[in-house]
Amino acid sequence: MSFIQLDNITKSFSTAGRPAVDGLSLKIKEGEIVSLLGPSGCGKTTTLRMIAGFENPTSGTIRIDGASIVSESNALPPEKRGIGMVFQDYALFPHMTIAKNVMFGLNKWKSREKKQRVKEVLELVGLEEYADRFPSQLSGGQQQRVALARALAPKPHVVLMDEPFSNLDAGLREKMRFDVTNILRRANTTAIIVTHDQKDAFAVSDRVVVMNEGVIQQIAAPKEMYRCPKNCFVAQFVGKTNLLTGRMDQDLKSIHTHIGRVALPEESKEQLEKVTLSIRPEGCMLSEQGAYCGRVDRVTYGGEYQELHVRLHQEQDLTAAPMMIYAPVEQDVEVGTLVSFDIKPELVALVE
Ligand SMILES: Nc1ncnc2c1ncn2[C@@H]1O[C@H](COP(=O)(O)OP(=O)(O)OP(=O)(O)O)[C@@H](O)[C@H]1O
Ligand SMILES: [Mg+2]
Repeated sequence: MSFIQLDNITKSFSTAGRPAVDGLSLKIKEGEIVSLLGPSGCGKTTTLRMIAGFENPTSGTIRIDGASIVSESNALPPEKRGIGMVFQDYALFPHMTIAKNVMFGLNKWKSREKKQRVKEVLELVGLEEYADRFPSQLSGGQQQRVALARALAPKPHVVLMDEPFSNLDAGLREKMRFDVTNILRRANTTAIIVTHDQKDAFAVSDRVVVMNEGVIQQIAAPKEMYRCPKNCFVAQFVGKTNLLTGRMDQDLKSIHTHIGRVALPEESKEQLEKVTLSIRPEGCMLSEQGAYCGRVDRVTYGGEYQELHVRLHQEQDLTAAPMMIYAPVEQDVEVGTLVSFDIKPELVALVE
């Protein structure tokens, strides 16, 4: 049984124009960490706010742990939903100590239990020694852990986090992805994390929900989302890719494209006339006797790899985009060089 269930949720802020969230349905299991991933304005925050109760859907229903939170006839107020929310800017009270901040949602608890719970959650987030400090005396990552501790203190059924990593620099961001997931797992909490960063989503979640223009594009585990994107939007949003159109071979195992024949990872279930392929750049491997040959058009040094743009020889259509390929950094490749490469079928996907 699903723990959180959104059924056909729509939110229109005005009668004109398309809804901010459009017919969204989603089921989340207990203890699962799910991220909502999509470009700016696609409706991520609006979805989170409707679950939290800060916004009412125009139509649709929400259930948490079997209980109706929102239906056509009623909407439970935010404080009765058993939800902990971590805001993008953490929203800590600057004039209160860390302990007081964490205690904030526990006003109905007995004094002794309150103190015990604050100690517990500060231990959980590794900040037990900071109880008497003020938020301004903590680093960004520590402040975020306080915000998470405050959300977890009343033992919510669900924790919602809006862009939890966006205020952190690259190094701290990576550490916090790891810390936040660990804390959520140890607290055994069901969580929904909103982000526009594919790396955040892949690193922290069991499943990722990719949204665009208020509509869910795909729901999948990170690996599956990357390997088998459903459509061109998802393929491009979760990583770099080459999109090629072509015609399916009679054998259902390969596609004829302007760069030549490209093998599919597995036989297609149906014969399709015109198809689009997504080929990840790391799926193209430089090789002396490679099946595809071309001239290097551009080299971009990326640190762990170099990105090459290669114009294929057999290309009939000169307006077609060059192939994007990742080459090892130790390999000397210059603009104008002739290279050949193979394509790993596992990094090829048919997309809509
Ligand atoms: N209170 C509001 N009144 C009118 N329109 C709104 C309101 N809140 C959001 N919108 C609109 O709804 C759409 C979705 O907004 P939302 O904040 O959910 O996007 P988002 O995916 O969280 O984007 P970002 O990544 O920029 O935070 C946007 O077009 C936005 O302008
Ligand atoms: Mg937002």
